[in-house]
Amino acid sequence: YVIGVDLGTSGVKTLLFKSDGSLIGEASAPLSVYHDHDGYSEQEPDDWYNAAVSALADLNQRFPDAVGQTAGLSFSGQMHGLVLLDKDNKPLRRAILWNDTRTTTECQQINDRVGEKTLLDIAKNKALEGFTLPKLLWVKNNEPDLYSEAQSFVLPKDYLRYKMTGRLEMEYSDAAGTLLLDVAKQKWSTKIAEASGVAVSLLPQLTSPTAETGQINSETADKTGLNERISVFAGGADNACGAVGSGVINDGKTMCSIGTSGVILSHESNRTNDTDGTLHYFNHGVPGDCYTMGVTLAAGYSLDWFKQTFCTEESFETVMDKIAEKPVGANGLIFTPYLVGERTPYPDAAIRSSFIGVDASHDKWDFARAVVEGITFSLRDSLELIQKSGKQIDEIVSIGGGAKSDTWLTIQANIFQSRIVSLESEQGPGQGAAMIAAVGTGACRDFTEAAEAFVKPKTTVYPSESSAKQYEELYNIYQSVYERTAPIT
Ligand code: XUL
Repeated sequence: YVIGVDLGTSGVKTLLFKSDGSLIGEASAPLSVYHDHDGYSEQEPDDWYNAAVSALADLNQRFPDAVGQTAGLSFSGQMHGLVLLDKDNKPLRRAILWNDTRTTTECQQINDRVGEKTLLDIAKNKALEGFTLPKLLWVKNNEPDLYSEAQSFVLPKDYLRYKMTGRLEMEYSDAAGTLLLDVAKQKWSTKIAEASGVAVSLLPQLTSPTAETGQINSETADKTGLNERISVFAGGADNACGAVGSGVINDGKTMCSIGTSGVILSHESNRTNDTDGTLHYFNHGVPGDCYTMGVTLAAGYSLDWFKQTFCTEESFETVMDKIAEKPVGANGLIFTPYLVGERTPYPDAAIRSSFIGVDASHDKWDFARAVVEGITFSLRDSLELIQKSGKQIDEIVSIGGGAKSDTWLTIQANIFQSRIVSLESEQGPGQGAAMIAAVGTGACRDFTEAAEAFVKPKTTVYPSESSAKQYEELYNIYQSVYERTAPIT
């Protein structure tokens, strides 16, 4: 057996698999997010550990034999979050998360001090508010006393792994999202650290996704029922693990994942490609590989916001059923999903959402449909950028909340003008984490064998010519909304 632990933003999800890829069970525990000021998004690092322990204990209660015999465990985690640690590896403050946008000044500082070209050459990405280096500089600029006590920093799932094993390491696919990693060489860039004003001594030990990073400590074993001899593997960033878990492990494969954020991600076997930073370029969960990716910050988050604000009585299924009754284009209503700013294609923390074309005849469900279509249009923006880089994309594997509804899968097929494949028993990034554990323990020879065992296609949805044509026209209007609303937000 193997276990994948996915540390998400809204909760921790643990998955127990047989090494042949069949899912035995899952257990989750929710997490709180603190938004104390506009643009702030924080979590208590120790909540991650408590939530993981509670979900694992739940799994153990229901499947004691399988949990007791589990040979390997690994992690996937929300990216970029800054966990600043003191000399005893205790968090000095709450973690500043990937969707926190307070660091616009620090991004400018990084560009001035390091230079945009150097950043792109080495870190392969632009300075964006969500990434970790701007967060480090924000603490340095705004909480200098606290910063002076810092001995190192890690990312969310690396902190969780430290709490469970006592070993502190940062893994490559997540380190790529700090802006401090030399992506091609898989080494810290002392050049970027020194130029931006971060002491090299703060940079933790690096490790590979499939590297064995110790065993479960006795405290965690006692609390969860896990065997202390279980091997723990480093794991990967949630998007890297989502790619592993959906079989996007070689060139030509593309994934659409809609969780709190949404991503379009395409495999890259080459770590040295030139990039202009419009898309992210990160190390993969498959050691040595990379991926290119565009991010919609508020994807599932936009629909959650709509549901929690206007449809408190209805379930997700009911909302999707109501959306299915509405025509393509939501009777002329268009939504841009910029509730908390945007990443791709507009790196703009200040932009906000709009509904365009509101008519007296519109009801709540036209708005709901416009929200789902708007999220999908935003992901089409990322898809187009990947296509412009020369990739032919005819098929996209869809995972996450967006894959849980046939209506949304159809909207994806028609807006992306591509075949959309959904997966049998799709478990998102946690499944990728379990596959890393399966490769790590040797239960699967390599990721190809792991994908054969774990990744099973369920349905293929084809685009309809007439709906795709209608969406093409609406997409042109959608695209003009950003430029027209940017000056007023
Ligand atoms: C990726 C990103 C998000 C988080 C969500 O750059 O910020 O997708 O990883 O957990």
